[in-house]
Amino acid sequence: MARHAVLAGVGGYLPKLIVTNDDLARSLDTSDEWIRERTGIRQRHIAGADETAAMMATEAARAALRRAGAGPDEVDAIILATSTPDQAFPATATRVQAALGVARGFAFDLSAACSGFIYALAVADGMIRAGQASGVLVIGAEVYSRILDWQDRTTCVLFGDGAGAVFLHAAEGPATPDAPGVVSTHLHADGRHGDILYIDGAVGQRERPGTLAMNGAAVFRHAVVNLAAAVEEALAANRLDRSAVDWLVPHQANRRIIDAMGKKLGLAPERVVVTIDRHANTSAASIPLALAEAVGDGRIRPGHLVLMEALGGGLTWGSALVRM
Ligand code: ACO
Repeated sequence: MARHAVLAGVGGYLPKLIVTNDDLARSLDTSDEWIRERTGIRQRHIAGADETAAMMATEAARAALRRAGAGPDEVDAIILATSTPDQAFPATATRVQAALGVARGFAFDLSAACSGFIYALAVADGMIRAGQASGVLVIGAEVYSRILDWQDRTTCVLFGDGAGAVFLHAAEGPATPDAPGVVSTHLHADGRHGDILYIDGAVGQRERPGTLAMNGAAVFRHAVVNLAAAVEEALAANRLDRSAVDWLVPHQANRRIIDAMGKKLGLAPERVVVTIDRHANTSAASIPLALAEAVGDGRIRPGHLVLMEALGGGLTWGSALVRM
């Protein structure tokens, strides 16, 4: 019997501390005007000492389970996308598993930078279809504030912290564009461009854990080209016209990239979920956080067709099409 994955609940967590552009401009040679005009960002949430990737992921997961009306006993897998785990190991996903009181199944972290949530969703979807799991928490959780060089104005103004989660469960029958569920996912990577966006170090390196380095203009060019192709790919694979898409929930890296993708789909601006103004770029957390906001305030409703897309370090990129 064919199976597919249904998105039953979504939740998010944002750190309590809000840092505005003006706050940053007090200690950095930048301005609210520059940041807003180039990126669309007005503020970001920054994690406090107790707000780790595991803690935020746990809160987001709890919210997703609540919305799904599901208990921890229905979770048999946790896939957590992050570039900023609490520890190299154990996986932050296992910390979340313990905090939720889940004592069965399996849990692991996944590294695909800003594409992490799309990658994790694709893996979860595949495992549900294959019968390896039936209730999967897919989480993106990031504390980029701890891997930023706060003296580098070309990168530190762009990012924020947070976590978002969805709970997927198995349903009978094949995935189709008309039935609720994950319709399709498409993943890509091109390691030849690994040096335009990377962490300059790792826990495995003796000298330093590393900070984020980026060639912003190069990333921007790749994002516009690859994400446009990813959108086309998702529609063509499902023989859908772009008018079938109700909502675009894009990774939130730059307002100009988001607007370009909305135009490509011919979507009215109010059909594109934007959080970058308040959250900045929360990497793997940005899509589930945006989804949680738009589902929570009633914009995205059951039956709507949602297209998600992201590009990040790797380079990695991809899309997910979900009927709510
Ligand atoms: N405040 C003031 N001035 C600044 C700042 C700042 N925060 N940052 C850079 N500048 C200056 C630069 O020094 C430069 O000055 P110069 O002309 O005197 O040399 C000028 O502003 C223009 O800089 P550019 O880098 O050319 O600005 P650009 O318009 O390309 O915007 C940006 C930069 C916002 C980073 C853009 O390239 C972008 O959004 N790129 C994509 C980023 C992205 O998608 N990242 C994904 C990360 S995902 C992940 O996987 C982690």
